[in-house]
Amino acid sequence: MIKCIHGFFHSVPELELSAPLWRIYSTPAYKTYIEALDSFRLLCLKRLTDKGVCAQVAKNCGQKVATILALDLMLVGVDTTAAAAASSLYLLANVPRAQRALQKELDTNLPKNRILNDKDLDKLPYLKACIKEALRMKPVILGNGRCIQSDTTISGYKVPKGTHIVFPHYVLSNEERYFPSPHEYVPERWLRENDIAGKDQYPIKAMNQFDKRHSSDEISRTCDRTVVSDVCRKQKEIGIHPFASLPFGFGRRMCVGKRFAEVELQLLLARVIIDFLLLFSNTNYETSIY
Ligand code: HEM
Repeated sequence: MIKCIHGFFHSVPELELSAPLWRIYSTPAYKTYIEALDSFRLLCLKRLTDKGVCAQVAKNCGQKVATILALDLMLVGVDTTAAAAASSLYLLANVPRAQRALQKELDTNLPKNRILNDKDLDKLPYLKACIKEALRMKPVILGNGRCIQSDTTISGYKVPKGTHIVFPHYVLSNEERYFPSPHEYVPERWLRENDIAGKDQYPIKAMNQFDKRHSSDEISRTCDRTVVSDVCRKQKEIGIHPFASLPFGFGRRMCVGKRFAEVELQLLLARVIIDFLLLFSNTNYETSIY
């Protein structure tokens, strides 16, 4: 199933963004795409519609609807969450101060020896802020498109019905005017007054005691105490614009898996960070967006 999802996602950009040769003959990307979706559909038919919610949907609305539901949820719910988890872990590994603060929050608030529940997660504002900040800096979906349904005016521009517009999350959520020092990973900017009431427990201090295993090079990549308080002060002055970071989209067609993905990410990060120290050793690592 995972192989099918990867096959699908790897072929879509080429099919959508390159010259559409696949309309004339079956290009390799087109074959991968069709094979991935065919196998995926069969797997969903065989495996997913006989239990849980999908089984209920199959009973009430038919096998076809249940298969489409299973297919949709799996197809868009796997790689998105994985990419968000990877970005969060990567940023925490590169910003030891934030990792330490998170570790401290988890040590203080999480129960030992039992499975976490939703009430436990309510006590972890810093964890939630770490995920929000990762999705702000590296939103999984770079932008959302909409086709305008009626003539409208946006920022003074008349936009006729039928126009396709793009809301570029990645650009906006990395703009200085909305997020001061946008390229610094500062989860603290998302915390509310109450969350930082016990700010001593969010150990900006702890970075001083940071594990000696980090080289000075890595420490230099972290933002220091001055940067954090400077960012928080500026962020507080301008506030957080409700549309400046929308990693799950907005409105009627926003992500239906938002809550599910958030809980998955919270549980994963809590489990990893409570037991492990993350270090990032590939100094030549480069990312690109295509
Ligand atoms: C970190 C993980 C995820 C991110 C960043 C993400 C992001 C998004 C975004 C940006 C959209 C488009 C929203 C819009 O157009 O306004 C979307 C749509 C959608 N997402 Fe997610 N998503 C994630 C995880 C999931 C999961 C786990 C599921 C299902 C279990 C899911 C199911 C869907 C579905 C079905 C849609 C289409 C909704 C519609 O068109 O009405 N997503 N997602």
